[in-house]
Formats: sequence, C-alpha cells, structure tokens
Amino acid sequence: MNLLFKNIKQLLQVRDQETRLVSGSEMKDLPVIENAWLLVKDGKIADFGKMENLPAFEDTTEVDASGKFLMPGWVDSHTHLVYAGNREQEFIDRINGLTYEEIANKGGGILNSAKKLQETSEEELYRQTAQRLEEVINMGTTAIEIKSGYGLTTEAELKMLRVIKKLKENYDLPIKATFLGAHAIPKEFKDNKEAYLNLLTEEMMPKIAEEKLAEYVDIFCEKGYFTVEDTHRILSAGKEHGLIPKIHVNQFNSIGGIQAGVEHEALSVDHLEVMTPEDIESLKGSKTMPVALPSCSLFLSIPYTPARELIDAGLPLALATDYNPGSTPSGNMNLVVSLACIKMKMNPEEAINAATINAAYAMGISDTHGSITKGKAANLILTSEIPSYGFLPYSFGANHIDKVFINGKEVS
Ligand code: NIG
Ligand code: FE
Repeated sequence: MNLLFKNIKQLLQVRDQETRLVSGSEMKDLPVIENAWLLVKDGKIADFGKMENLPAFEDTTEVDASGKFLMPGWVDSHTHLVYAGNREQEFIDRINGLTYEEIANKGGGILNSAKKLQETSEEELYRQTAQRLEEVINMGTTAIEIKSGYGLTTEAELKMLRVIKKLKENYDLPIKATFLGAHAIPKEFKDNKEAYLNLLTEEMMPKIAEEKLAEYVDIFCEKGYFTVEDTHRILSAGKEHGLIPKIHVNQFNSIGGIQAGVEHEALSVDHLEVMTPEDIESLKGSKTMPVALPSCSLFLSIPYTPARELIDAGLPLALATDYNPGSTPSGNMNLVVSLACIKMKMNPEEAINAATINAAYAMGISDTHGSITKGKAANLILTSEIPSYGFLPYSFGANHIDKVFINGKEVS
C-alpha cells in the first residue's frame, strides 16, 4: 500500500542523491519545500512536491499533515545500546563528589559494566537491549549504530555482537555493529596489555570476521586506556579483517588519536570534547566525520565539543547520543539536537543536518538514508503541530513527535 502525506507545512532536508554530507557554511542550509506532499511506495520515498502540483494517485492511504513538519528520522551513529543493568550507583557517587576517573580506577566504570554483562545470558541481554531500541525508535531514531565493548572476553564480546545481529534480524531499521573490544583493559590483563591486544587481534577479530558480526572497529584512545600506538595496531588489524575504523578520541585529552584516525581513513572520530588547533587542522581535507556527543558532556559535566571552531574551519559535524550506562544513560536524539543549539552554539539548521545527513555519513548509510531524496528509505519523523522547525530544539525536553515511520511503516 502506498502512503501519501498531504498538506505538510514544511518538508525538511530535501536533497539530491549526490549529497552525502554537508560541511562548514553549507551546514546552515536546510533545504525545505513549503506546503508539500510526499508519496511512499514499497517503503521508499517515491516522489514529493508542492501541494499546488499534487498529481492524482490511486491506491494510497492518506496522512493529513496539516500544520506538521515531515523530515528524515534521526540517525544515531554512536551508541552502546547493549549493556546489562545500569550504573545508577556511580551516578550517585559522582553527585557525592567522586570523579568519573576515580570511579573507573576503583574498578567501576567500563569494568563494572563488563562484569554485569558477563554474568547476563544472551537472551536477557537481548531483552534489555530490544527494550532500549524500541524506546529510541519512539523518540524518532530510525537508524542506529551499536558497539560491543562491555564484554572484554571473547565469549562476552561475541555475545554482545550476536545480540546486535538478532536485533538486525528482528527490526527493520538500519543497524550497524561495531567491535569495541579495545574499550578498557580487563583486570586480568592489567599488567599485560600486550596479551589483551593479542587476544583482540588474534582471537576475537578472526571469529567476528568469520561470523560477519561487525562492520566497524573502534578503540578508546585515551590516557589510562589505549595509546595512539595501540590505536594504529587495532585499526590496522581491524582493516585486515574487513572492519572499517571509527574511534573514541579526545574525550578527556588530546594525545594524537585524531591524526591516527585520519591516517587510517576512519569513517568517524567521536567525542572530541578536547580539541587543539592541530587536531582541527588534521581533519581538513579528510574523509573522516567528526562526531559530537553533547549528552555525554551534559551527564559528565565535561566540556562540549567546540562545534563552532570545527564548522567555522569548514569541517562537517555529526551528532549522536553515545547511549551507554556510564557516561550517557540517554538515547534521546531530540535532546542531543537541543543541546547542540543551547550549549554548542549550533543553529537549528546545523543541528538538524548534523543529526540526519551527516550522521548517516558517519554510519556509512548516506546513500540510502539521512535526507528526503527520491529512492531513499521512507524513514521519517512527522512532528506534531508546531510553529517552526526551530521549535524542536528551542522547546528542549518536550516531545513534538507525532509519528515515526520506518520503511514507510508507522512504528511509534
Ligand atoms: O563513549 N568513553 C568511552 N566509552 C563510553 C563510556 C563508557 C562507560 O562509562 O561505560 C563513552 O563515553
Ligand atoms: Fe561511546
């Protein structure tokens, strides 16, 4: 059955097929069609135009979008959706004065999540994760990347990736899996990081490649976690196993990881809360998408990615949630878009571009998702009646999503 949206107040993010990302001053442009219609056929955007030129279609279910905005669904290119339980106690510990680093050094943090996950069955892990996935779909996320990295043993990392594989089978939205075995050094390898790196490259990666469990490889390049040298090693090994690099970098310190990411043609470099002028310079002319995670900055009270400096230097920028139990227990892209405007001085147009077309690039799906383009998937958000699209970030914390569609099917 075809679906016809009529009387759309504004159709947002209308692009040609060639546009894979927007950079620098282009990010201020959000192409729209006023008073529009859009036709969905076989789950794809078949055609659209202005209401005054609406052709006569047969066999269509009509959706009256009077007073509403229709736009591509949010693309969340960085999450750790698979985890067991929560870390609410660490949240309380931080309120009472401990730092994220102090908690991690006491065996909390990522190692705490790894312990919980190792003790949880694959079925239970799937149940918890599917619940989170449905939660974020209801908030407008219609494509998502999910990382491993809370397993830290071969068995537990594979368990996480199999949960992601099962989600891919059971849900209709694009899901990309990232192998983040290099998320933290397990306790047993505290004095022998070399052995853990070997385990990642010699045991885990071949199994992951064999079972085709991941598209991307990631590493937490940070003081106290993994060095730039480790990053080169993991990204090279990942590439040998067909995994495309994406890295966690510059969250707390700038140690040269961005340059390593660019050298390996990483699809994205994510976090970037701490950026030097050299870091910005090295991203210029690269194929690597910088990704900011403002709800992580909010939750940990750390600096926000200097979006203005990046964009004003002519670079593109994408936004994602980082949904995880430790640094960002929220998968709300609407909040991320608001925070980008409020705390990072991005204009609503820039923030919407960063959370749709550029986010699709950072997930490797911008040829099929991230904009209103003929032939792309009909993964869409229909807003409620609001005065303007800028009202979405402006009215932070509110929910202005009326309906969410994945491949033309209403899912919310
Ligand atoms: O992206 N920075 C590294 N990893 C996660 C958080 C890990 C955790 O605290 O569980 C992040 O913020
Ligand atoms: Fe992350």
